[in-house]
Amino acid sequence: MKDNYVLQLQNITKEYPGVRALNDVSLEVKEGEILALIGENGAGKSTLIKTCSGAVIPTSGKIIVNGKEFAHMTPQLAKENGIAIIYQEFNNVKGLSAAENLFLGNPIRKGIIIDQKAMEKEAEKAFAQLNIKIDPKTLVGDLTVGYQQMVEIAKAIQQDARILIMDEPSAPLTSAEVESMFKVCELLRSKGVAIIYISHRLEEIYRLSDRIVVLRDGSYVKTLITKDSHVDELIRLMVGRDLKETYPSREECIVEDEIILELQNLSGNGDKDINLKIRKGEVLGLGGLVGAGRTELVEMIFGSVRKTSGKILFKGKEIDPKSPREAIDLGIALVPEDRKRHGALLGVSIKNNINMPIYKRISRGSVIDSRQEMDVAQKYQKDLLIKTPTLNQLVKNLSGGNQQKVIIGKWLAANSELIIFDEPTRGIDVGAKFEIYTLINKLLQQGKTILLISSEMEELMGMSDRIMVLYEGRVTGELERNEFDQNTIMRMSSGV
Ligand SMILES: Nc1ncnc2c1ncn2[C@@H]1O[C@H](COP(=O)(O)OP(=O)(O)OP(=O)(O)O)[C@@H](O)[C@H]1O
Ligand SMILES: [Mg+2]
Repeated sequence: MKDNYVLQLQNITKEYPGVRALNDVSLEVKEGEILALIGENGAGKSTLIKTCSGAVIPTSGKIIVNGKEFAHMTPQLAKENGIAIIYQEFNNVKGLSAAENLFLGNPIRKGIIIDQKAMEKEAEKAFAQLNIKIDPKTLVGDLTVGYQQMVEIAKAIQQDARILIMDEPSAPLTSAEVESMFKVCELLRSKGVAIIYISHRLEEIYRLSDRIVVLRDGSYVKTLITKDSHVDELIRLMVGRDLKETYPSREECIVEDEIILELQNLSGNGDKDINLKIRKGEVLGLGGLVGAGRTELVEMIFGSVRKTSGKILFKGKEIDPKSPREAIDLGIALVPEDRKRHGALLGVSIKNNINMPIYKRISRGSVIDSRQEMDVAQKYQKDLLIKTPTLNQLVKNLSGGNQQKVIIGKWLAANSELIIFDEPTRGIDVGAKFEIYTLINKLLQQGKTILLISSEMEELMGMSDRIMVLYEGRVTGELERNEFDQNTIMRMSSGV
Protein backbone atom coordinates (compact mmCIF):
# COMPACT_ATOMS: atom_id res chain seq x y z
CA MET A 1 0.00 0.00 0.00
CA LYS A 2 1.24 3.46 -0.85
CA ASP A 3 1.83 5.65 2.16
CA ASN A 4 -0.74 8.35 2.44
CA TYR A 5 1.32 11.36 3.34
CA VAL A 6 -0.84 14.33 4.18
CA LEU A 7 2.04 16.58 5.06
CA GLN A 8 5.61 16.53 3.83
CA LEU A 9 8.32 18.97 4.79
CA GLN A 10 11.22 18.80 2.38
CA ASN A 11 14.72 20.15 2.96
CA ILE A 12 13.60 22.96 5.24
CA THR A 13 16.31 25.42 6.21
CA LYS A 14 15.74 28.50 8.35
CA GLU A 15 18.41 31.03 9.07
CA TYR A 16 18.33 33.85 11.58
CA PRO A 17 21.16 36.33 12.05
CA GLY A 18 23.88 34.27 13.72
CA VAL A 19 21.75 31.13 14.04
CA ARG A 20 20.82 28.39 11.63
CA ALA A 21 17.68 27.22 13.43
CA LEU A 22 16.97 24.51 10.84
CA ASN A 23 19.37 22.83 8.50
CA ASP A 24 17.88 20.83 5.62
CA VAL A 25 15.22 19.05 7.65
CA SER A 26 12.69 16.71 6.04
CA LEU A 27 9.83 14.77 7.56
CA GLU A 28 6.42 13.46 6.60
CA VAL A 29 3.30 12.44 8.43
CA LYS A 30 0.62 10.02 7.31
CA GLU A 31 -3.13 10.10 7.64
CA GLY A 32 -4.21 8.66 11.00
CA GLU A 33 -0.73 8.73 12.47
CA ILE A 34 0.76 10.37 15.52
CA LEU A 35 4.28 11.49 14.77
CA ALA A 36 6.37 12.59 17.74
CA LEU A 37 8.93 15.33 17.23
CA ILE A 38 11.64 15.41 19.86
CA GLY A 39 14.92 17.16 20.57
CA GLU A 40 16.63 19.29 23.20
CA ASN A 41 15.69 22.88 23.97
CA GLY A 42 16.64 24.92 20.93
CA ALA A 43 16.83 21.92 18.58
CA GLY A 44 14.42 23.60 16.16
CA LYS A 45 11.13 21.82 16.85
CA SER A 46 8.96 24.91 17.24
CA THR A 47 10.62 26.65 14.31
CA LEU A 48 9.94 23.62 12.11
CA ILE A 49 6.28 23.33 12.93
CA LYS A 50 5.82 27.09 12.62
CA THR A 51 6.73 26.75 8.95
CA CYS A 52 3.50 24.73 8.61
CA SER A 53 1.36 27.68 9.68
CA GLY A 54 3.26 30.45 7.93
CA ALA A 55 4.42 31.86 11.26
CA VAL A 56 7.95 31.13 10.05
CA ILE A 57 8.96 31.52 6.40
CA PRO A 58 11.69 29.01 5.56
CA THR A 59 14.88 30.30 3.98
CA SER A 60 14.63 27.32 1.62
CA GLY A 61 12.76 24.06 1.20
CA LYS A 62 9.17 23.19 0.45
CA ILE A 63 5.97 22.14 2.15
CA ILE A 64 3.63 19.65 0.52
CA VAL A 65 0.09 19.33 1.83
CA ASN A 66 -2.05 16.59 0.32
CA GLY A 67 0.18 16.61 -2.75
CA LYS A 68 0.02 20.40 -3.18
CA GLU A 69 3.38 22.09 -3.09
CA PHE A 70 4.10 25.39 -1.31
CA ALA A 71 7.33 27.38 -0.93
CA HIS A 72 5.88 28.61 2.33
CA MET A 73 2.56 28.74 4.09
CA THR A 74 0.41 31.63 5.28
CA PRO A 75 -2.06 31.44 8.17
CA GLN A 76 -4.89 31.53 5.64
CA LEU A 77 -3.42 28.75 3.48
CA ALA A 78 -2.78 26.62 6.55
CA LYS A 79 -6.38 26.93 7.61
CA GLU A 80 -7.73 26.22 4.12
CA ASN A 81 -5.57 23.11 3.98
CA GLY A 82 -6.78 21.80 7.32
CA ILE A 83 -3.66 22.51 9.37
CA ALA A 84 -4.14 23.62 12.97
CA ILE A 85 -1.37 24.35 15.42
CA ILE A 86 -1.49 24.53 19.16
CA TYR A 87 1.45 26.68 20.07
CA GLN A 88 3.84 26.46 22.94
CA GLU A 89 3.10 30.10 23.64
CA PHE A 90 -0.65 30.38 23.95
CA ASN A 91 -2.35 32.24 21.21
CA ASN A 92 -5.58 33.06 22.95
CA VAL A 93 -7.12 36.43 23.73
CA LYS A 94 -7.38 36.74 27.48
CA GLY A 95 -10.08 39.41 27.41
CA LEU A 96 -12.50 37.26 25.41
CA SER A 97 -14.64 34.39 26.65
CA ALA A 98 -13.79 30.74 26.05
CA ALA A 99 -16.52 30.56 23.40
CA GLU A 100 -15.32 33.71 21.65
CA ASN A 101 -11.81 32.33 21.57
CA LEU A 102 -13.06 29.16 19.94
CA PHE A 103 -14.59 31.12 17.12
CA LEU A 104 -11.96 33.81 16.92
CA GLY A 105 -11.86 35.26 13.41
CA ASN A 106 -14.70 32.99 12.40
CA PRO A 107 -17.75 33.81 14.53
CA ILE A 108 -21.17 32.24 14.08
CA ARG A 109 -23.59 34.85 12.79
CA LYS A 110 -27.31 35.25 12.62
CA GLY A 111 -27.67 37.60 9.69
CA ILE A 112 -25.07 40.23 10.38
CA ILE A 113 -25.24 39.84 14.15
CA ILE A 114 -22.80 37.63 16.01
CA ASP A 115 -24.78 34.79 17.54
CA GLN A 116 -23.35 34.57 21.04
CA LYS A 117 -25.80 31.88 22.16
CA ALA A 118 -24.98 29.57 19.25
CA MET A 119 -21.24 29.96 19.84
CA GLU A 120 -21.67 29.16 23.50
CA LYS A 121 -23.66 26.07 22.63
CA GLU A 122 -21.05 24.86 20.14
CA ALA A 123 -18.28 25.59 22.60
CA GLU A 124 -20.04 23.55 25.24
CA LYS A 125 -20.18 20.64 22.80
CA ALA A 126 -16.50 20.95 21.96
CA PHE A 127 -15.55 21.01 25.64
CA ALA A 128 -17.78 18.04 26.38
CA GLN A 129 -15.90 16.09 23.69
CA LEU A 130 -12.71 16.86 25.54
CA ASN A 131 -14.29 15.83 28.77
CA ILE A 132 -13.64 19.16 30.43
CA LYS A 133 -15.84 21.53 32.33
CA ILE A 134 -15.38 25.07 31.17
CA ASP A 135 -18.16 27.61 31.22
CA PRO A 136 -18.07 29.01 27.66
CA LYS A 137 -18.77 32.46 29.09
CA THR A 138 -15.64 32.55 31.27
CA LEU A 139 -12.96 34.98 30.19
CA VAL A 140 -9.93 33.01 29.05
CA GLY A 141 -7.70 35.27 31.15
CA ASP A 142 -9.53 34.00 34.23
CA LEU A 143 -8.87 30.35 33.41
CA THR A 144 -5.85 28.48 34.74
CA VAL A 145 -3.04 27.75 32.33
CA GLY A 146 -4.30 24.18 32.09
CA TYR A 147 -7.74 25.21 30.99
CA GLN A 148 -6.38 27.85 28.61
CA GLN A 149 -4.51 25.10 26.85
CA MET A 150 -7.67 23.00 26.68
CA VAL A 151 -9.49 25.88 24.97
CA GLU A 152 -6.75 25.88 22.33
CA ILE A 153 -7.21 22.18 21.69
CA ALA A 154 -10.97 22.56 21.49
CA LYS A 155 -10.51 25.34 18.97
CA ALA A 156 -8.51 23.14 16.61
CA ILE A 157 -11.13 20.41 16.87
CA GLN A 158 -13.83 22.95 16.25
CA GLN A 159 -12.05 24.03 13.05
CA ASP A 160 -12.09 20.46 11.81
CA ALA A 161 -8.35 20.22 11.37
CA ARG A 162 -7.01 17.21 9.41
CA ILE A 163 -3.45 17.92 10.43
CA LEU A 164 -3.12 18.82 14.08
CA ILE A 165 0.23 20.01 15.33
CA MET A 166 0.77 20.33 19.06
CA ASP A 167 3.80 21.99 20.61
CA GLU A 168 4.16 20.61 24.14
CA PRO A 169 0.41 20.45 24.73
CA SER A 170 0.73 18.44 27.93
CA ALA A 171 3.20 20.76 29.62
CA PRO A 172 0.68 22.79 31.62
CA LEU A 173 -1.71 19.92 32.30
CA THR A 174 -2.07 17.58 35.28
CA SER A 175 -1.93 13.85 34.73
CA ALA A 176 -5.72 13.53 34.67
CA GLU A 177 -5.99 16.26 32.06
CA VAL A 178 -3.15 14.75 30.05
CA GLU A 179 -5.08 11.51 30.09
CA SER A 180 -8.18 13.12 28.58
CA MET A 181 -6.05 14.95 26.05
CA PHE A 182 -4.50 11.61 25.02
CA LYS A 183 -7.96 10.16 24.57
CA VAL A 184 -8.81 13.03 22.28
CA CYS A 185 -5.63 12.48 20.28
CA GLU A 186 -6.40 8.79 19.92
CA LEU A 187 -9.95 9.55 18.87
CA LEU A 188 -8.71 11.99 16.25
CA ARG A 189 -6.15 9.48 14.99
CA SER A 190 -8.87 6.89 14.55
CA LYS A 191 -10.74 9.43 12.43
CA GLY A 192 -7.72 9.77 10.15
CA VAL A 193 -6.33 13.02 11.51
CA ALA A 194 -2.56 13.29 11.28
CA ILE A 195 -0.94 14.56 14.45
CA ILE A 196 2.51 15.96 15.07
CA TYR A 197 3.21 15.90 18.78
CA ILE A 198 6.10 17.70 20.47
CA SER A 199 6.97 16.80 24.04
CA HIS A 200 9.92 16.52 26.38
CA ARG A 201 8.19 13.78 28.32
CA LEU A 202 9.36 10.57 26.79
CA GLU A 203 6.78 8.38 28.50
CA GLU A 204 4.13 10.33 26.58
CA ILE A 205 5.95 9.72 23.34
CA TYR A 206 5.83 5.99 24.02
CA ARG A 207 2.25 6.05 25.10
CA LEU A 208 0.99 8.00 22.13
CA SER A 209 3.13 8.03 19.02
CA ASP A 210 3.52 5.72 16.05
CA ARG A 211 6.81 7.11 14.83
CA ILE A 212 9.41 9.48 16.24
CA VAL A 213 11.53 12.08 14.48
CA VAL A 214 14.60 13.28 16.37
CA LEU A 215 16.17 16.70 15.77
CA ARG A 216 19.47 17.90 17.14
CA ASP A 217 20.99 21.36 16.69
CA GLY A 218 18.64 22.20 13.84
CA SER A 219 19.38 19.02 11.92
CA TYR A 220 17.40 15.89 11.26
CA VAL A 221 18.93 12.94 13.12
CA LYS A 222 16.69 9.92 12.65
CA THR A 223 13.17 8.55 12.34
CA LEU A 224 12.22 5.63 14.57
CA ILE A 225 9.23 3.31 14.79
CA THR A 226 8.09 3.88 18.37
CA LYS A 227 7.40 0.27 19.29
CA ASP A 228 10.79 -0.86 18.00
CA SER A 229 12.78 1.85 19.77
CA HIS A 230 14.25 2.12 23.24
CA VAL A 231 14.23 5.17 25.49
CA ASP A 232 18.02 5.08 26.00
CA GLU A 233 18.50 5.25 22.27
CA LEU A 234 16.13 8.21 22.03
CA ILE A 235 17.99 10.13 24.70
CA ARG A 236 21.33 9.36 23.09
CA LEU A 237 20.07 10.55 19.71
CA MET A 238 18.70 13.74 21.26
CA VAL A 239 21.59 14.79 23.43
CA GLY A 240 24.40 13.05 21.57
CA ARG A 241 25.60 11.22 24.71
CA ASP A 242 24.41 8.76 27.34
CA LEU A 243 22.32 10.15 30.14
CA LYS A 244 20.33 8.67 32.98
CA GLU A 245 16.92 10.01 33.92
CA THR A 246 17.36 10.10 37.70
CA TYR A 247 17.60 12.54 40.57
CA PRO A 248 20.93 13.69 41.96
CA SER A 249 21.75 12.48 45.46
CA ARG A 250 20.99 14.82 48.34
CA GLU A 251 23.40 13.38 50.84
CA GLU A 252 25.27 16.58 51.51
CA CYS A 253 22.15 18.65 52.10
CA ILE A 254 21.28 19.21 55.73
CA VAL A 255 17.86 20.23 56.98
CA GLU A 256 18.19 22.47 60.04
CA ASP A 257 15.71 23.14 62.83
CA GLU A 258 15.23 26.81 62.06
CA ILE A 259 11.83 27.52 60.54
CA ILE A 260 12.25 29.73 57.48
CA LEU A 261 8.63 30.06 56.47
CA GLU A 262 5.52 29.50 58.49
CA LEU A 263 1.94 30.04 57.45
CA GLN A 264 -0.72 30.26 60.13
CA ASN A 265 -4.32 29.91 59.00
CA LEU A 266 -3.50 31.78 55.85
CA SER A 267 -6.56 32.57 53.75
CA GLY A 268 -7.21 34.54 50.61
CA ASN A 269 -6.91 34.23 46.83
CA GLY A 270 -9.11 31.12 46.90
CA ASP A 271 -7.14 29.37 49.66
CA LYS A 272 -8.47 28.66 53.16
CA ASP A 273 -6.74 28.14 56.49
CA ILE A 274 -3.40 27.01 55.20
CA ASN A 275 -0.90 25.99 57.85
CA LEU A 276 2.61 24.97 56.99
CA LYS A 277 6.20 25.19 58.13
CA ILE A 278 9.36 24.90 56.08
CA ARG A 279 12.72 24.38 57.75
CA LYS A 280 16.01 25.79 56.56
CA GLY A 281 17.55 23.59 53.89
CA GLU A 282 14.35 21.71 53.25
CA VAL A 283 12.43 21.09 50.05
CA LEU A 284 8.72 21.19 50.69
CA GLY A 285 6.80 19.86 47.74
CA LEU A 286 3.30 21.12 47.04
CA GLY A 287 1.18 18.61 45.19
CA GLY A 288 -2.31 18.83 43.78
CA LEU A 289 -4.20 19.27 40.56
CA VAL A 290 -4.30 22.33 38.33
CA GLY A 291 -6.61 24.71 40.13
CA ALA A 292 -5.90 23.28 43.60
CA GLY A 293 -4.70 26.68 44.78
CA ARG A 294 -0.95 26.14 44.86
CA THR A 295 0.02 29.02 42.58
CA GLU A 296 -2.54 31.14 44.44
CA LEU A 297 -0.83 30.32 47.73
CA VAL A 298 2.63 31.34 46.60
CA GLU A 299 1.23 34.52 45.08
CA MET A 300 0.29 35.59 48.60
CA ILE A 301 3.69 34.69 50.01
CA PHE A 302 5.34 36.62 47.19
CA GLY A 303 3.18 39.70 47.65
CA SER A 304 1.57 39.69 44.22
CA VAL A 305 -1.84 39.06 45.83
CA ARG A 306 -2.79 40.19 49.34
CA LYS A 307 -3.93 37.69 51.94
CA THR A 308 -7.30 38.28 53.58
CA SER A 309 -6.50 36.69 56.95
CA GLY A 310 -3.94 34.60 58.79
CA LYS A 311 -0.23 35.12 59.21
CA ILE A 312 2.94 34.73 57.15
CA LEU A 313 6.11 34.39 59.23
CA PHE A 314 9.49 34.58 57.58
CA LYS A 315 12.42 33.59 59.80
CA GLY A 316 10.21 33.99 62.83
CA LYS A 317 8.97 37.50 62.03
CA GLU A 318 5.56 38.30 60.71
CA ILE A 319 5.67 39.74 57.21
CA ASP A 320 2.98 41.17 54.98
CA PRO A 321 4.52 41.80 51.57
CA LYS A 322 2.44 44.23 49.56
CA SER A 323 4.37 43.68 46.35
CA PRO A 324 6.86 41.23 44.86
CA ARG A 325 9.50 43.94 45.28
CA GLU A 326 8.98 43.79 49.05
CA ALA A 327 9.16 40.00 49.06
CA ILE A 328 12.36 40.05 47.00
CA ASP A 329 13.95 42.54 49.41
CA LEU A 330 13.04 40.24 52.28
CA GLY A 331 14.81 37.34 50.57
CA ILE A 332 12.01 35.50 48.81
CA ALA A 333 12.12 34.58 45.12
CA LEU A 334 9.45 33.07 42.92
CA VAL A 335 10.15 31.32 39.64
CA PRO A 336 6.62 31.60 38.28
CA GLU A 337 4.51 29.06 36.48
CA ASP A 338 3.28 31.33 33.71
CA ARG A 339 6.66 32.58 32.62
CA LYS A 340 5.27 34.37 29.60
CA ARG A 341 3.22 36.65 31.79
CA HIS A 342 5.38 37.12 34.86
CA GLY A 343 8.83 35.91 34.07
CA ALA A 344 11.07 37.48 31.48
CA LEU A 345 11.28 40.80 29.72
CA LEU A 346 11.07 39.41 26.23
CA GLY A 347 12.40 42.45 24.41
CA VAL A 348 15.49 42.63 26.63
CA SER A 349 18.76 40.68 26.38
CA ILE A 350 19.57 37.50 28.27
CA LYS A 351 22.32 39.30 30.15
CA ASN A 352 20.00 42.07 31.33
CA ASN A 353 17.26 39.65 32.32
CA ILE A 354 19.53 37.52 34.48
CA ASN A 355 21.02 40.56 36.21
CA MET A 356 17.68 42.32 36.69
CA PRO A 357 17.22 41.59 40.42
CA ILE A 358 20.83 42.43 41.31
CA TYR A 359 21.57 45.64 39.42
CA LYS A 360 21.43 47.56 42.68
CA ARG A 361 24.07 45.29 44.12
CA ILE A 362 26.46 45.37 41.17
CA SER A 363 26.23 49.10 40.52
CA ARG A 364 28.05 52.07 41.96
CA GLY A 365 25.71 55.02 41.66
CA SER A 366 24.37 54.72 38.16
CA VAL A 367 27.41 52.89 36.82
CA ILE A 368 26.98 49.15 36.34
CA ASP A 369 29.98 46.91 36.91
CA SER A 370 29.80 45.39 33.45
CA ARG A 371 32.45 42.79 34.16
CA GLN A 372 30.41 41.39 37.05
CA GLU A 373 27.25 41.67 34.98
CA MET A 374 28.84 39.51 32.29
CA ASP A 375 30.28 37.04 34.83
CA VAL A 376 26.88 36.45 36.40
CA ALA A 377 25.20 35.97 33.03
CA GLN A 378 27.93 33.60 31.87
CA LYS A 379 27.75 31.58 35.07
CA TYR A 380 24.06 30.87 34.66
CA GLN A 381 24.34 30.30 30.93
CA LYS A 382 26.85 27.58 31.78
CA ASP A 383 24.99 26.14 34.79
CA LEU A 384 21.68 25.98 32.97
CA LEU A 385 22.98 25.16 29.49
CA ILE A 386 21.27 28.17 27.91
CA LYS A 387 21.65 27.77 24.18
CA THR A 388 22.45 31.04 22.45
CA PRO A 389 25.13 32.47 20.19
CA THR A 390 25.46 35.52 22.46
CA LEU A 391 24.23 36.73 25.85
CA ASN A 392 23.13 39.92 24.11
CA GLN A 393 20.42 37.96 22.29
CA LEU A 394 16.90 39.17 23.08
CA VAL A 395 14.98 36.68 25.17
CA LYS A 396 12.08 36.63 22.70
CA ASN A 397 14.38 35.05 20.11
CA LEU A 398 15.18 32.07 22.31
CA SER A 399 13.41 28.72 22.18
CA GLY A 400 10.67 28.16 24.78
CA GLY A 401 12.83 26.04 27.05
CA ASN A 402 15.76 28.41 26.89
CA GLN A 403 13.51 31.34 27.84
CA GLN A 404 12.57 29.40 30.95
CA LYS A 405 16.18 28.79 31.81
CA VAL A 406 16.85 32.54 31.64
CA ILE A 407 14.08 33.18 34.15
CA ILE A 408 15.35 30.50 36.46
CA GLY A 409 18.85 31.97 36.15
CA LYS A 410 17.49 35.39 37.03
CA TRP A 411 16.03 34.16 40.31
CA LEU A 412 19.07 32.15 41.18
CA ALA A 413 21.19 35.25 40.67
CA ALA A 414 18.95 37.11 43.11
CA ASN A 415 20.48 35.00 45.86
CA SER A 416 17.28 34.74 47.91
CA GLU A 417 16.91 32.60 51.02
CA LEU A 418 13.59 31.05 50.10
CA ILE A 419 13.12 30.10 46.50
CA ILE A 420 9.70 29.12 45.30
CA PHE A 421 9.66 27.09 42.10
CA ASP A 422 6.32 26.78 40.36
CA GLU A 423 6.65 23.92 37.85
CA PRO A 424 10.38 24.53 37.29
CA THR A 425 11.01 21.92 34.60
CA ARG A 426 7.95 22.36 32.47
CA GLY A 427 9.17 22.47 28.88
CA ILE A 428 12.75 21.71 29.87
CA ASP A 429 14.55 18.92 28.00
CA VAL A 430 15.85 15.77 29.70
CA GLY A 431 19.45 16.87 29.88
CA ALA A 432 18.72 20.33 31.28
CA LYS A 433 16.17 18.92 33.71
CA PHE A 434 18.92 17.07 35.47
CA GLU A 435 20.97 20.27 35.53
CA ILE A 436 18.09 22.06 37.24
CA TYR A 437 17.75 19.34 39.86
CA THR A 438 21.48 19.48 40.48
CA LEU A 439 21.22 23.24 40.81
CA ILE A 440 18.41 22.92 43.35
CA ASN A 441 20.69 20.63 45.34
CA LYS A 442 23.50 23.17 45.11
CA LEU A 443 21.15 25.82 46.47
CA LEU A 444 20.29 23.56 49.39
CA GLN A 445 23.95 23.01 50.12
CA GLN A 446 24.30 26.78 50.31
CA GLY A 447 21.64 26.78 53.01
CA LYS A 448 18.73 27.89 50.85
CA THR A 449 15.21 26.64 51.34
CA ILE A 450 12.90 25.50 48.56
CA LEU A 451 9.16 25.44 48.08
CA LEU A 452 8.47 23.31 45.04
CA ILE A 453 5.20 23.14 43.16
CA SER A 454 5.13 20.32 40.68
CA SER A 455 2.43 18.41 38.88
CA GLU A 456 4.91 15.78 37.79
CA MET A 457 4.53 13.09 40.38
CA GLU A 458 8.00 11.66 39.87
CA GLU A 459 9.64 15.02 40.19
CA LEU A 460 7.64 15.87 43.30
CA MET A 461 8.56 12.61 44.99
CA GLY A 462 12.12 12.64 43.70
CA MET A 463 12.98 16.13 44.91
CA SER A 464 10.93 16.80 48.07
CA ASP A 465 11.77 16.10 51.70
CA ARG A 466 8.13 16.45 52.58
CA ILE A 467 4.99 16.82 50.46
CA MET A 468 1.83 18.72 51.24
CA VAL A 469 -1.18 18.28 49.02
CA LEU A 470 -3.81 20.89 48.29
CA TYR A 471 -7.28 20.36 47.01
CA GLU A 472 -9.70 23.22 46.31
CA GLY A 473 -7.67 25.66 48.33
CA ARG A 474 -7.25 23.49 51.42
CA VAL A 475 -4.53 21.20 52.69
CA THR A 476 -5.70 17.60 52.34
CA GLY A 477 -2.60 15.81 53.52
CA GLU A 478 1.05 15.83 54.41
CA LEU A 479 3.60 13.10 53.84
CA GLU A 480 7.13 12.52 55.08
CA ARG A 481 9.62 11.16 52.62
CA ASN A 482 9.27 7.56 53.82
CA GLU A 483 5.50 7.80 53.32
CA PHE A 484 5.65 9.02 49.73
CA ASP A 485 3.34 7.01 47.56
CA GLN A 486 1.85 7.90 44.23
CA ASN A 487 -1.61 6.56 45.00
CA THR A 488 -1.83 8.34 48.33
CA ILE A 489 -0.85 11.62 46.72
CA MET A 490 -3.37 11.10 43.93
CA ARG A 491 -6.10 10.43 46.48
CA MET A 492 -5.25 13.54 48.46
CA SER A 493 -5.15 15.55 45.22
CA SER A 494 -8.68 14.61 44.41
CA GLY A 495 -9.97 15.41 47.86
CA VAL A 496 -10.62 11.78 48.85
N1 LIG B 1 13.24 34.98 15.80
C1 LIG B 1 14.41 34.38 16.07
N2 LIG B 1 15.58 35.04 15.98
C2 LIG B 1 16.76 34.44 16.25
N3 LIG B 1 16.88 33.15 16.60
C3 LIG B 1 15.76 32.44 16.71
C4 LIG B 1 14.46 33.00 16.47
N4 LIG B 1 13.53 32.04 16.66
C5 LIG B 1 14.21 30.93 17.02
N5 LIG B 1 15.53 31.16 17.06
C6 LIG B 1 16.58 30.18 17.39
O1 LIG B 1 16.34 28.99 16.69
C7 LIG B 1 16.72 27.85 17.46
C8 LIG B 1 15.59 26.84 17.50
O2 LIG B 1 14.54 27.31 18.32
P1 LIG B 1 13.17 26.53 18.53
O3 LIG B 1 12.28 27.44 19.25
O4 LIG B 1 12.70 26.00 17.25
O5 LIG B 1 13.64 25.33 19.47
P2 LIG B 1 12.77 24.16 20.13
O6 LIG B 1 13.32 22.87 19.61
O7 LIG B 1 11.34 24.40 19.93
O8 LIG B 1 13.17 24.27 21.67
P3 LIG B 1 12.28 24.14 23.04
O9 LIG B 1 12.26 22.70 23.39
O10 LIG B 1 13.10 24.91 24.03
O11 LIG B 1 10.97 24.75 22.80
C9 LIG B 1 17.11 28.39 18.83
O12 LIG B 1 18.52 28.44 18.90
C10 LIG B 1 16.53 29.78 18.86
O13 LIG B 1 17.28 30.63 19.66
MG1 LIG C 1 9.81 24.90 21.24
